Amino acid sequence: MGFAVLLACCQAVVGAVQEFSSDDSSQCVHFHRPGKVLIYKKDTAVFPIGISVPSDLVAESIPRKVRVHAAFVGSSCGGEVSEYKFGPMEEDRYQDFYRRHRFAHTKRKGGWDAVRHAEILAMGTVPNFAGLDKAPHLAVPFVPKALLLKTEELLPYSKRLEAAYNATVEQLLDHTRRCLTAESMAARVLREMGLWPTQRPLRLLYITCGFGFSGAGDGWQGPVSIGIFLGLHALLRQWPGSRIVDAPAMEPDPSIWPEETVHRSNFWYLAKDSDPWIHEEDLRQRMYGYGFSYARRLSLKDLATQAERDAVPDSLFRHEFDGVIYGKVGPAQGCDPLPFFDVVRNAGYPAERVALIYGGDFGLETKRVAEHARYYSGYGIIFFREMIAPPEDFHWISAQVFPRACYADPGWNRFFQLWRKRLDCPACDDVDRNVRDELWDHLWPVSRGFSWQTGNGLEVLPPCWSGLLLLAFPMLKTSAEAELKDLCDFFNRQLHQAARHVTFGRCVLPRPRCKGSIAFRGAFGVQPSEVKTFVRSICRKLSRKCAVRGTVKQ
Ligand SMILES: *[C@@H]1O[C@H](CO)[C@@H](O)[C@H](O)[C@H]1NC(C)=O
Repeated sequence: MGFAVLLACCQAVVGAVQEFSSDDSSQCVHFHRPGKVLIYKKDTAVFPIGISVPSDLVAESIPRKVRVHAAFVGSSCGGEVSEYKFGPMEEDRYQDFYRRHRFAHTKRKGGWDAVRHAEILAMGTVPNFAGLDKAPHLAVPFVPKALLLKTEELLPYSKRLEAAYNATVEQLLDHTRRCLTAESMAARVLREMGLWPTQRPLRLLYITCGFGFSGAGDGWQGPVSIGIFLGLHALLRQWPGSRIVDAPAMEPDPSIWPEETVHRSNFWYLAKDSDPWIHEEDLRQRMYGYGFSYARRLSLKDLATQAERDAVPDSLFRHEFDGVIYGKVGPAQGCDPLPFFDVVRNAGYPAERVALIYGGDFGLETKRVAEHARYYSGYGIIFFREMIAPPEDFHWISAQVFPRACYADPGWNRFFQLWRKRLDCPACDDVDRNVRDELWDHLWPVSRGFSWQTGNGLEVLPPCWSGLLLLAFPMLKTSAEAELKDLCDFFNRQLHQAARHVTFGRCVLPRPRCKGSIAFRGAFGVQPSEVKTFVRSICRKLSRKCAVRGTVKQ
């Protein structure tokens, strides 16, 4: 007994620090390939993101069931409350309804991902997901697809299936806790930005905007953005001194909010103590889906003050934020054009510390959204909810040879586009000249990594070492005699650095550096040893000349 208590205490302490600290995508994302980065249309790295529920909504054990099938109780297209079966103040009844049924019908709504899938799972109920077997390959990344497809075996339901049913619900609840909670989703965003796990409090800028869905100036963010914001607050509660500044805010609008004179957070409905003088039922009418499963979970103190919002540009220039998260991105959304984007760029933020969340109903199947994401790729880490595109539009690239700097930098992004052109046409000199004219001045300064001064001192983010190797081809091919010495020094240094990741000699599996070489070849079409041979062949003449000169001096 005493031992159990002790164990519980210490697990809680360890758990508090380690929560969601490691990459869980192989357990959580049904299409995941371990150790790989997903690339859309050859140039845009995309990471999956999804709709989540706060962890306290997830059932601790299998609830008592009194009925078998719950019909679909939502609106046919999403958010049409007149079709809802529950009133604005009946969140508990709504959740009880799901909790007491064994199965609950759900389906794709505005997009494949929907709040309802996560809600049903959280209540300890088996979603009966119509059409899931025909969903596109990359749809609903965090929904336990294989497990749900297997639940058909429990139908038609009878009492003798109860043990199997219970085991299924246990598995689903376990998946929900690990993969579908707001905390897990927020940790995913921070991890891909290199900010989680953390050893210190974090300061984040959370860019909020988004059209008001009801026209009541409510700055509706959509469930993905709301989930991440709630999750960040829950995660960072362990780190006193952390702060999340949400900005910009809504202009005062007395026609919608009587007597309002100050700015209002786009997340006002997340605060318990917002607008106590207005009848809660009236406020709930202004919230999407009456605020079920997300509203009233923070307090006004958690939302930014106007002074903090006014100070955002200065704070950015002083590098006071560890990262910037654009909660809702997409063309013709409230965040278009992206607020503070130029300030973030001019203040010198590394793109890997900027997250762009495409969490709306319209995803890659929508041409304008796909173009938007490709335009912004390189300026931030891109997260997508609806990755609905033909499988041939995607490929995977080994993270071992494609570190974050290679896809979170507009210069490197452009370089890899040109590299692919070069592979298709090795004799195209113009490609090499493009690299030299457009990119060299941008890329060599970050060859030792991206250094930037933050409130916590100087940080150096690791460079794109694989790109630096490949750069040897276009640069050495187009260089004038006079520059050769410096360039040879530069690329010899890169070869030396890259020797930590790849082998240039005989490849012996399963050595990691040999795996690195194979991954390099697979990703970029050349062997690391070919790079070395090429650099040597150009630079050998030079070293001979130097050697001759050297002997003369002696
Ligand atoms: C299934 O779980 C319920 C709720 O915990 C429990 O009452 C019931 O006895 C379980 N049934 C079986 C067969 O394990």
